[in-house]
Amino acid sequence: MIADLSGKTAIITGGGQGLGLGISTKIAGQGANIIVTDLDDRNKSTVEELAKTNNVDFLYLEMDVMNSEQITESMKKAIDFSKIDILVNNAGVPGAPGSTGTRWRDEDWDFTWKVNVKGLHEVTEAILPHMIENKSGKIINISSVAAKAAKYATAYYATTKMAVIAYTQALAREFGSSNINVNAIAPGRILTQFHKDWVENRKKLGDTTTDLFSKESLSSVMPLGRAQSPEDIGALAAFLASEDAKNITGQTIQCDGGQVMS
Ligand SMILES: NC(=O)c1ccc[n+]([C@@H]2O[C@H](COP(=O)([O-])OP(=O)(O)OC[C@H]3O[C@@H](n4cnc5c(N)ncnc54)[C@H](O)[C@@H]3O)[C@@H](O)[C@H]2O)c1
Repeated sequence: MIADLSGKTAIITGGGQGLGLGISTKIAGQGANIIVTDLDDRNKSTVEELAKTNNVDFLYLEMDVMNSEQITESMKKAIDFSKIDILVNNAGVPGAPGSTGTRWRDEDWDFTWKVNVKGLHEVTEAILPHMIENKSGKIINISSVAAKAAKYATAYYATTKMAVIAYTQALAREFGSSNINVNAIAPGRILTQFHKDWVENRKKLGDTTTDLFSKESLSSVMPLGRAQSPEDIGALAAFLASEDAKNITGQTIQCDGGQVMS
């Protein structure tokens, strides 16, 4: 089995839906126990079923990555549950609630930064000492092709996703000697609630030229001619989390059906 994760334990933030659920599915499918965190207990029964099907253990924690106290408490529970081998920082937002996608609203800059960058950093900081002590760990941060192609996002969102790449590289350099691999995945567009919100924002801005919320329209902008699924991102995450990827660190790997080539 490539990407054998038997006996490992992974935390997936924002793992209750969308990409996070696809990542949880693939990681559990490769034999790892999963600790899924999210704002609430959405799809907890699906995660439970996933664990049962793959004969792995699971823990579901309600954790807002903007809440430092909750992060400390939840990550302590996670470490009490198991040695943590893998952290997937997936939780992310396209803007503040009610965002219209304009580039200048303070709320959007602040909120998006707090979730996509500061939250990701605080969760990582809560787990890093544990990984350093164990002299092993795999950290995978979810960036976006938005960091590579301005066309695909608002300025504030693209900025946070580029920050995730810089953060990934800095950590990879600093903690390589502790046998910790840190990589990022840059997904292309995938039909999730997140994407739906983004399309709604574009419409509010008066963008009527594209209807991107359909499998057909998304497929048409992919050189491979097929829309991506959350599990496509999960497969790459599982590989990066495995020993087969032990020589890969500090990289941002696009998984986007060829949508953006650079
Ligand atoms: N869908 C896409 O087209 C796409 C493309 C590139 C990158 N991404 C990235 O993938 C990640 C997941 O996006 P998705 O498309 O699955 O979105 P989604 O909205 O379907 O899921 C995001 C998950 O994150 C959780 N979340 C949001 N704010 C949180 C917070 N403050 N604390 C804890 N959890 C929180 C949500 O509850 C949800 O379960 C994000 O980082 C996003 O930027 C998505």
